[in-house]
Amino acid sequence: MCGIVGYIGPRDATPILLDGLKRLEYRGYDSAGLAVINARNEIEIRRDAGKLSNLRQRVAEAPTNGHIGIGHTRWATHGPPTAYNAHPHRAQDGRIVVVQNGIVENFLPLRQELMAQGYAFASDTDTEVIVQLIHREFTQTEDLEEAVRRALRLLQGPSAVVVLSAYEPDRLIAARLGNAGAVVVGYGEGEMFLASDIPAILEHTRRMAFLENQEMVVVTREGARYSTLDGELIPHKEIITIPWDSVSAAKGPYRHFMQKEIFDQPNALTDTIRGRIDFVTGEVALPAANLTPQVLQRIERVTIVACGTSYYAGLMGKFYIERLARLPVEVDYGSEYRYREPIIDERTLFIAITQSGETVDTLAAMEEARRHHAFLLSIVNAVGSQAARVADGVIYMQAGPEIGVASTKAFTASVVDQLLLAMYLAQQRGLMDPAASLELAHELALLPQKLGHVLAMDEDIRKLGIAYANYQDFLYLGRGLQYPIALEGALKLKEISYIHAEGYPAGEMKHGPIALIDETMPTVAIAPRDHVYEKMVSQVEQVKARRGRVIAVVNPEDHVIAGKADDLIVVPEASPWLLPILTVVPLQLFAYHIAVWRGADVDQPRNLAKSVTVE
Ligand code: AGP
Repeated sequence: MCGIVGYIGPRDATPILLDGLKRLEYRGYDSAGLAVINARNEIEIRRDAGKLSNLRQRVAEAPTNGHIGIGHTRWATHGPPTAYNAHPHRAQDGRIVVVQNGIVENFLPLRQELMAQGYAFASDTDTEVIVQLIHREFTQTEDLEEAVRRALRLLQGPSAVVVLSAYEPDRLIAARLGNAGAVVVGYGEGEMFLASDIPAILEHTRRMAFLENQEMVVVTREGARYSTLDGELIPHKEIITIPWDSVSAAKGPYRHFMQKEIFDQPNALTDTIRGRIDFVTGEVALPAANLTPQVLQRIERVTIVACGTSYYAGLMGKFYIERLARLPVEVDYGSEYRYREPIIDERTLFIAITQSGETVDTLAAMEEARRHHAFLLSIVNAVGSQAARVADGVIYMQAGPEIGVASTKAFTASVVDQLLLAMYLAQQRGLMDPAASLELAHELALLPQKLGHVLAMDEDIRKLGIAYANYQDFLYLGRGLQYPIALEGALKLKEISYIHAEGYPAGEMKHGPIALIDETMPTVAIAPRDHVYEKMVSQVEQVKARRGRVIAVVNPEDHVIAGKADDLIVVPEASPWLLPILTVVPLQLFAYHIAVWRGADVDQPRNLAKSVTVE
């Protein structure tokens, strides 16, 4: 989820690039940079790790002046967020620079090929391969557009690329390969813009065109010429007028970041799975976790520590790791862990789950684990965050920045990451047969598509939410793998709509909560067809017997509960391991629509913060 901006026109490019990068700030970043061609036809680059303010400081110390340039903010997924890894990356002659959003999946063989041809590399990134390839092709074609075309055809994986060159200083060239995110072409008066998202350039123009997959564009001050990557001219490209203001544009067509992030989950889960499981063998690879055979041979138990939604994700991890890898797992709150003198040592795999990577209670628990020589593994979304830096190994959620205070895509991504981890541990411990691995790999491959079917129910769930929006208390019930989902569903409702909601293991109902049930307290019963389905049927009957209303989350063709519940949310069939991902999303939407209907501040609920960095 990197940010890209480009400009060519009569104005000074640098402030336009910096402002554009600022408007992409919601995408999050851990390094930023820009390149401008100056009056002496030299490319000047300024870049730095950290916040955009660091780049502004570099530019203030050494101003750049020119009328054509490109800028980039990096949401690193591979390689540390350092200055030398920040984009733009330059060819070794310094006369071609590139910024990229996406992944060059075959960058290693390409890098080796280029090194064998005498190219030296100055970064760890895959992006640098692109600019050296373009340089190599340019030395043969002496035509920048053709050189870019030839180079990009060698790439595998999704990429959005923008090229600036002192060889042809009157143009920018951009291309889009696969689903690497948008390439937006902005039409100004005597000036043109490029961006990875609308907000970056919306203050300058509302007239925009969008590159499709496998398309290129050459942009000059006068306009833009489109073609396919194969060189076929695209004579007409639709230019649309964007109706949004710049703030709302960051959300795209969504009203809130939370809504955008709920609907981003098919992409986020695709990204968190990508490259981590072989869909032919079912084998899982988590190189950045550093769980080497030497480490694993000493691991006898697992401790998972997190807060809030991440803690509920950890409860899922307990099921996965105990069932698949046969390692005992305890799960604890970050705020409790360090105060109970936990039993932990070098035989413990200590897993911190944290979207922000900055939650102080989770970080403090990590320090406690460190003191006792446990192996620290972080499952974290924010690259370069504290939890990522202090751990011995990392599994990045790769869900893209999560802006809404209520966590959604980070929850589902961290659940999938823990399933991958459990599979990895089981495979390394020789406890998982290839057939079982392959079946789960197949299920994971189908997951984003099934999520799409769930998201397609949004309007029905909105209506259901409005029908229940005036109740003041809810009970959420689930068993087994659906118990953490009951907890998470209740948290979503209470934290954004301010309605009291409790998640409970369904079997516990008769030990207390059932006293609460009456017609004023609806129950959400999560009852897909898994190994405890029959138990859930009787739970629903118990609630109905006390005049409680029941919203049941079920699978298709469920005629048993359908005849008892007042309302149904039907989610697709799936492996019991993955059903929780399908059952949690309707509960996210249910909470979202109730909160919107009640006029709550969905993205910034009262009293809450996106990252709790204080005790
Ligand atoms: C979840 O919707 C809440 N915003 C909150 O519980 C959050 O999950 C918790 O603060 C942990 O945050 P982290 O994942 O960034 O550590």
